[in-house]
Amino acid sequence: MKITDSVIYVGVNDHKIDLFEGQYVVPNGMAYNSYIIKGEKVAVMDSVDIHFTDEWLDNINAALSGDAPDYIIVQHMEPDHSASVDAFMEKYPDARIVASKQAFAMISNFFGTDYKDRQIIVGENDTLDLGGRVLTFVTASMVHWPEVIVTYDAQDKILFSADGFGKFGALDADEDWACEARRYYFGIVGKYGAPVQNLLKKAASLEIEKICPLHGPILTENLGYYINLYNIWSSYSVESEGVVIAYTSIYGNTKKAVLKLEEILKAKGCPKVTVTDLARDDMAEAIEDAFRYGKLVLATTTYNSDIFPFMRTFVDGLRERQYQNRTIGIIENGSWFPTAAKVIKGMLEKSKDITYTDTTVTIKSAMNEETLKQLEALADELMK
Ligand code: FEO
Repeated sequence: MKITDSVIYVGVNDHKIDLFEGQYVVPNGMAYNSYIIKGEKVAVMDSVDIHFTDEWLDNINAALSGDAPDYIIVQHMEPDHSASVDAFMEKYPDARIVASKQAFAMISNFFGTDYKDRQIIVGENDTLDLGGRVLTFVTASMVHWPEVIVTYDAQDKILFSADGFGKFGALDADEDWACEARRYYFGIVGKYGAPVQNLLKKAASLEIEKICPLHGPILTENLGYYINLYNIWSSYSVESEGVVIAYTSIYGNTKKAVLKLEEILKAKGCPKVTVTDLARDDMAEAIEDAFRYGKLVLATTTYNSDIFPFMRTFVDGLRERQYQNRTIGIIENGSWFPTAAKVIKGMLEKSKDITYTDTTVTIKSAMNEETLKQLEALADELMK
């Protein structure tokens, strides 16, 4: 696939993967993108997952009609992109690796050699002259690993953005970009909002016509849409108005209260109510929704003097991704000593700018008249 006269796609689609990064379901697979950039010399941008080494090397060979590339640029050392670097170096013994200093330390850890005689170490604003085309490297430390660089091709006005602007799903998946890009972003990069903001500031000074990420489609139109979403996500701003209700329920009584709250909110004209069962639905989707909307209700049982395990996992997932700037309401259930609200507030004690509703709904085993009054009060507060 040609992206411009000088930039060719040589990545692969993965439809065999069960869990991306060992935890994320990817029903439409995954793409590991890789690019050939041609000047008088030829660079390959990043490698691919270990299961696709041969297919990737075949793609390079076909795109170059058997010629050997001069460089491999390693923007990111996570193995979904770096695992085939050693096979490339073996196949092309005259090629050199272009990467950050931190990346070479990781190359040594992964491959037992840092290719000392074949290194080109690059840092902020360093360039690689391919002859008729100069690539400029921009450091993107902690987006979302420390060694990351992104690359700007001024000739074709392309930003090679590493994992930035990536999404779940193979390139042949016909699906909405934002949904799977948001789930990817908050799952994998969400903790690192400040470094992403730094990168967006650097990118703002570049004239960009195309974004070539390491996952998901090449973005060629309406780039402001994608950049605006990345700005919202990385600044922990609210993207959409609405309420997310995330719950666990053992015998169905907490669930009944959740469905009642959903009904009340809808009757009051809430623009969007999303309900997710944390034991059965995709946890990454629940995390994504919690960051997308401004208001969150956590409904759970007291369990072993703590909270139900799936809720603990969820709240931990929010906390470690720097969940902030949101309103939270709590529905707690406990047959003899409900303590879930106290536990949740303790878990989020250090989270910034969290406002709790005045109403906490407390159920002792099953809903009653008092519960209904509390749910009404909670809904009123959420609608403010
Ligand atoms: Fe796509 Fe962070 O690896």
